[in-house]
Amino acid sequence: DAADKKSRLLEVNKVAAGYFYMKLRSPAGQHGLAYLKGRGLSDETMKNFGLGYADKYRNDLYNYLKKKGYADDLLKDSGLFHFDERRGFSDKFWNRVMYPIMDASSRVIGFGGRVMGEGEPKYLNSPETEIFNKSRNLYGLHVARRTRRKNFIICEGYMDVISMHQAGYTNAVASLGTALTSQQCSLMSRFTKQVLVIYDMDGAGVKAALRAIPMLRQAGLSTKVVDLKPHKDPDEFLKAEGAEAFEERLERAENSFMFVIRMLEAEHDMSDPEDKSRFFHECAAKIVEIEDEIERKSYIDAVAARYNIDVDLLNSQVNKEALKGI
Ligand code: CTP
Ligand code: MN
Ligand code: MN
Ligand code: MN
Ligand code: MN
Repeated sequence: DAADKKSRLLEVNKVAAGYFYMKLRSPAGQHGLAYLKGRGLSDETMKNFGLGYADKYRNDLYNYLKKKGYADDLLKDSGLFHFDERRGFSDKFWNRVMYPIMDASSRVIGFGGRVMGEGEPKYLNSPETEIFNKSRNLYGLHVARRTRRKNFIICEGYMDVISMHQAGYTNAVASLGTALTSQQCSLMSRFTKQVLVIYDMDGAGVKAALRAIPMLRQAGLSTKVVDLKPHKDPDEFLKAEGAEAFEERLERAENSFMFVIRMLEAEHDMSDPEDKSRFFHECAAKIVEIEDEIERKSYIDAVAARYNIDVDLLNSQVNKEALKGI
């Protein structure tokens, strides 16, 4: 039955993870090991995350699992292979360092595989399977759920999570290469009240943050946004500046609403009266979306102070916006 099938798929993924893990520590995996060490990962960190290596042969894992007696029908559904009627099975992952993806109960449900160095695609991930649902899992959650830190950190990548954990930020999770989902937000809300958003310091990261903020809020989570500039992501920041400087950035995290307003400002030419007016109208429309009246008032004050506009004027504009919705 279905439960039985799931447990067999979990077993295949677990055995595959063990194989990749062993390979990384074998002569064949020296390349991968050097790559990961070069990125600053300690043996302990690699062990904690079960990192591995997929050999350069196209049927290495397949042959291994066949020798172990696993049936082709099961392997087809495992997400670990390409299958073609004529050519048969071939490994999906080869010549990559492997990041097993664990669910909240630490069971291996899939993999991310990275090319060592440059190459496309940079990451290859397991497809959705009967046990791997990307939108319902978070990378690193099996550790983060037990963190002693007071909040969670949501970031983009595998390496970001791993580097932050290595630096003591065991509260970091990543959304598995897809846009953050509402299920992932409610998953986090089971373990924390506050989430720090640390997406990459590029256009895609800002876009992802602007999308994530209302979803986190919807899940009842308070959110702040962390600025890592001039570095690109948490992994690069930690490597360049270390944990102490990182902690300072976390402490300086910006209220997510004020972040949204600041990103809105960047789209306007504030020296142009017409554009400036448009900016304030858009601010008013955003402020109206805040349901809590006290919070709303604080934002009116904060926006007025930061952008040098009369509080009463902004307030009346917010009231006009509120009436639009009725
Ligand atoms: N990602 C993916 N497939 C890709 C590129 C990215 O699944 N082809 C996902 C991965 O989970 C990756 C995350 O999106 O970790 C963020 O992508 P990116 O910022 O490009 O990579 P980094 O995590 O910074 O990777 P690295 O530091 O190893 O270069
Ligand atoms: Mn990115
Ligand atoms: Mn990145
Ligand atoms: Mn990176
Ligand atoms: Mn108007």
